[in-house]
Amino acid sequence: MLPFTRPTLSEEDEQAVLEVLRSGWITTGPKVAAFEQALADYLGGGVTVCAFNSATSALEAVLLASGIGPGDEVIVPAMSFTASANVVVRAGARPVFVDVDLDSRNLDAERVEAALTPRSRALIPVHFAGLAVEMAPLRDLAEHHRLLLLEDAAQAIGTRHAGRAIGSFGNPTCFSFHPNKNLTTIEGGAVATNDSALVRRLERIRFHGIERNADGDMNVPLWGGKMNLPDVNAALGLSQLARLDAFNRKRRKLAEHYLERLPRHPALHPPASGPGHSWHMFCVRIDYAALGTTRAAFQQALAERDIGTGVHYPAMHLFGLYRHYGYAPGDFPNAERIGEQTLTLPLFPGMEPDDVERVCAALAEVLDG
Ligand SMILES: Cc1ncc(COP(=O)(O)O)c(C=O)c1O
Repeated sequence: MLPFTRPTLSEEDEQAVLEVLRSGWITTGPKVAAFEQALADYLGGGVTVCAFNSATSALEAVLLASGIGPGDEVIVPAMSFTASANVVVRAGARPVFVDVDLDSRNLDAERVEAALTPRSRALIPVHFAGLAVEMAPLRDLAEHHRLLLLEDAAQAIGTRHAGRAIGSFGNPTCFSFHPNKNLTTIEGGAVATNDSALVRRLERIRFHGIERNADGDMNVPLWGGKMNLPDVNAALGLSQLARLDAFNRKRRKLAEHYLERLPRHPALHPPASGPGHSWHMFCVRIDYAALGTTRAAFQQALAERDIGTGVHYPAMHLFGLYRHYGYAPGDFPNAERIGEQTLTLPLFPGMEPDDVERVCAALAEVLDG
């Protein structure tokens, strides 16, 4: 069975973890500091990196540290993993969904501008599947309306845009290192930012609100949670980071192979591409209704041919939680179409071009009924 994703783990990764396990210090310590510095160096652009135990924690912490709360509105794409909007609810603010482009699955400035109100305080673009959002118009909009521009780059470690790494533009940018992601720490996340005052607040929020003076005395001036990354995970991250560019080159090669070899069928829509794409996922759209089938039956037919698939994602505004905010079917046609038609095909660095051929052949068979 070819799964839709699989982490790429090596003996070096195992050795790195074992070393920390045997070192006598396994929670947050020197490996986290080294991982943060290595990530900052990797991103370039003079940013500081603050590690967290997940991207969800990282996003929550940035919203809290930026004073986003009750009465505030935060713009979020209707197409993303639910964490992108859940963190807004957790901060006590209101998520305001905006439709995405059908092909890139990303936000654009025009749609965002139309959703702004006097209560808008922040904007969370998501670099979907590793394809960068067009940032310059969003940055202009954020500056003009004094909005926090918080990049959800959970799926975009290693993505490049306008000649730079996503995460190096200065806006707080959150990454995920969940096992599905292009670099994994098992669970983990990070914020990259050029705002040193924000870094100090994030460091407090991620560890109980604790602050220490020069004598080492402890004070808790503000609330904080428990969101720190252990050294065991950071050691895995350091080991993975050394191979990230190689992983992403392989992903790109496999994605290009897919784009060349996917069956040309009117019901199959390939994903948008782009030069800095890190190809976290390869998500096609399939018009199941035109084929007289359902996604579940289509997935089952591929599974019978030993091909695993995923669904990323149902449109968020149609989840029960968000219906309470008044959202309903028909609000965001592109996100809904993607939600109904999306299918994630296998893509991970351990695959070979022959695996892509196998997926394409199985797709052709299933598409032809
Ligand atoms: C777009 C997006 N945002 C946030 C998250 C949350 O990441 P984590 O699992 O590290 O909390 C994910 C995870 O898949 C994601 O895809």
